[in-house]
Formats: sequence, structure tokens, C-alpha cells
Amino acid sequence: MTARRTAAKIYRGTARSLRFLARCLRAGELVAVPTETVYGLAADALNARASAKIFRAKGRPTHDPLIVHIHSFAQLELLAKTNDAAKRLAKKFWPGALTLVLPKKKRVPAIVTAGLPSVAVRMPRHPLMRRLLRLCDRPLAAPSANPFGYVSPTTAEHVRAGLGKKIRFILDGGPAAVGLESTIVDLRDPRHPRLLRPGAISRRQIEDVLGIKLRSVPTRGGAKHAPLPAPGLLDRHYSPRTPLVLHKKMSRTRAAKSGLAEAWLFFARPAGLTGPNVFWLDARGDAYRAARRLFSRLRALDGRGFEKIHAEAAPAGDLAEAINDRLRRAAGLGQA
Ligand code: TXA
Ligand code: MG
Repeated sequence: MTARRTAAKIYRGTARSLRFLARCLRAGELVAVPTETVYGLAADALNARASAKIFRAKGRPTHDPLIVHIHSFAQLELLAKTNDAAKRLAKKFWPGALTLVLPKKKRVPAIVTAGLPSVAVRMPRHPLMRRLLRLCDRPLAAPSANPFGYVSPTTAEHVRAGLGKKIRFILDGGPAAVGLESTIVDLRDPRHPRLLRPGAISRRQIEDVLGIKLRSVPTRGGAKHAPLPAPGLLDRHYSPRTPLVLHKKMSRTRAAKSGLAEAWLFFARPAGLTGPNVFWLDARGDAYRAARRLFSRLRALDGRGFEKIHAEAAPAGDLAEAINDRLRRAAGLGQA
């Protein structure tokens, strides 16, 4: 796609702009949309040509499938072959930060699922996204609205910074409330559910509803030539450009002695330590607030010219698996 000279326009969620953006989507245009997890780059999921534009705008390889966003259970039935386990999870967590992978129905174009016989579906909670989905009355394919491989966007400004020259329309829904991409559960075979990506809805919460343990999907762990166990689960993903080193527990003494070229991103405010290179995700170490800020902090630090970012892992707790997954990928380490 050729770069456009004018930057994308950011629309506030007025009734008028929602109607306009819904028309754009129905006409096959791309619109960046707010969700409670991260911003997505949306297109009509039933229109193969529209969905193909997503890959071009993001520079995303076409073997990496998209998530399809819906507003009703009727739309789920339109796209996927459901099962009891999927329905139980959907009833409990939708609308919300949960994506289900199920066998697809024929009408879902191959480009959306990267040729796979399965489709990933999510019913988002963000009120503007829900209104837009209802107005355009089409399921919307939308991966995160960032150039492929970079940190996911949690504000409309992040989207403009990354894709402003490639797209025309951005709907501003404020900062994302969750801040991490959705939990992805593979339920093609309900007897063997798999956790494809940890997110704010934790492994434990899902296992509680299903009554079975979730299997995990390991990434290649650096073995370049092994096939990918699941599409899109690249070891290096969500990465800032500045090299990032992950520490289980970060040493205040080391941070205090380090030169100013290295940034130290603590999980909670480190008592007694301050400096122009000392940062934290949340003063009191609240995991929900930390998750919400993680991507914007990484972006901000990435823009400050540090040679290295040291980041501290989240301590044990409900959100730790998801936060530490993103930090490991930012460090190029893949899944645990
Ligand atoms: O929170 C989210 O999930 C956000 C918002 C916009 O909804 N979306 C998002 O999409 O993060 P993204 O860029 O991560 O891409 C979707 C990922 C793929 O990389 C792949 O890992 C998984 O979803 N996926 C999609 N379809 C799949 C399928 N049929 N089988 C297995 N994994 C699939
Ligand atoms: Mg993504």
C-alpha cells in the first residue's frame, strides 16, 4: 500500500461519527477501533478484499490469522461451529477479554483465518465498539492496530503514531481499560482445551468454568526451524526497539549504581530509589493498573533513547501469567 500524505483522522465517539465509520466499514474501508484490551484495526470480516487490507496496512504476514469481533450470539453461530464448553465460557466472560478458537463456517473468508479451518471470535465490552458493531451489523476482523511485531496500542494516539500514514480513520475510545490483548482459548476439541495466549481472564478463571486443566502451547523457544505450534505465537512480539532485559526480581542497588543510559522499570515504586532512569508500572504494585500501563510505559521508554530497558516481572497473582508473557516476548524470550 502506498503511504498517504495526510495523517489519519481521529474521530470522537459521537452518534454522527459512529454512523459515518459504520458506513466506511460496510464499504470495505479500514477503521481503527477501541476495545477494552487494545485498539484493533478493523475491516468487514465477511469481505475478503477488505480484510486483506489489514495485512497490508500492518505489514502482517498472511499466515497470521485475525480475531473476529461480534456483538451477539447470533453472529457467533454465523461464523463458528460451537460446543457446550465454548458456550459456557462465552456466557461467563462475554462481552470481555476472551477469544475462542472454534471450527469455522464456510462463509468466513480464508484470508481472515490464514487458510485455517478454525476461526478466532471475541465479543468485546467497550461501549463504542459495541455500538459500532451494531450499527454496521457485520462481524469485524481486527488484530491489534500496530505495525506487525511492535507493542500493541492502548490509545488512539498510539495508533496514529504507528499506522497514521497507512489508514484514514481512527475511533477514539480513550485509554484501553485492560491494556493487554485478550486471553485466547482453543476449543476446537472441547475435551482438550488449550491456552493459546494468556490474558486478563486468567487460566484459573477459565479452568473453573470448564472443570478441566488447560494445556499450554509452547513457542519454538528460539529453535528457528521448528514449525510454529500455533499461528502468530512468535517468540519476539510486542517488542520495543530498545533491547529489554527481564528480571524476576530487580535489584535496587544495581539500579542505583547503573549509568543513566539504562532504564529501570520496576513493578511497584522502589522505596528509597529515584532518578531520571527509574520508573515503575504502578506505585503500589496493583496488577490491574500495572497491566493497563504496561504498553504505554514501554512505548514511552522506547522513545527516550535508552540503550537498554531493565524490566521487573509481575509477582505471583491473577494477572502475572499475562503480564510476564508480554514482558518475556518484549525481551525476545517467548513463552515460559
Ligand atoms: O485483545 C485482543 O485480542 C485484540 C483486540 C483488538 O481484540 N486483538 C489482538 O489480535 O490482539 P492479534 O494482533 O494478537 O492477532 C490475533 C491472534 C493471532 O496472532 C493468533 O495468535 C490468534 O489470534 N489466532 C487468530 N485466529 C486463530 C486461529 N484460527 N487459530 C489459532 N490462533 C488464532
Ligand atoms: Mg498483535
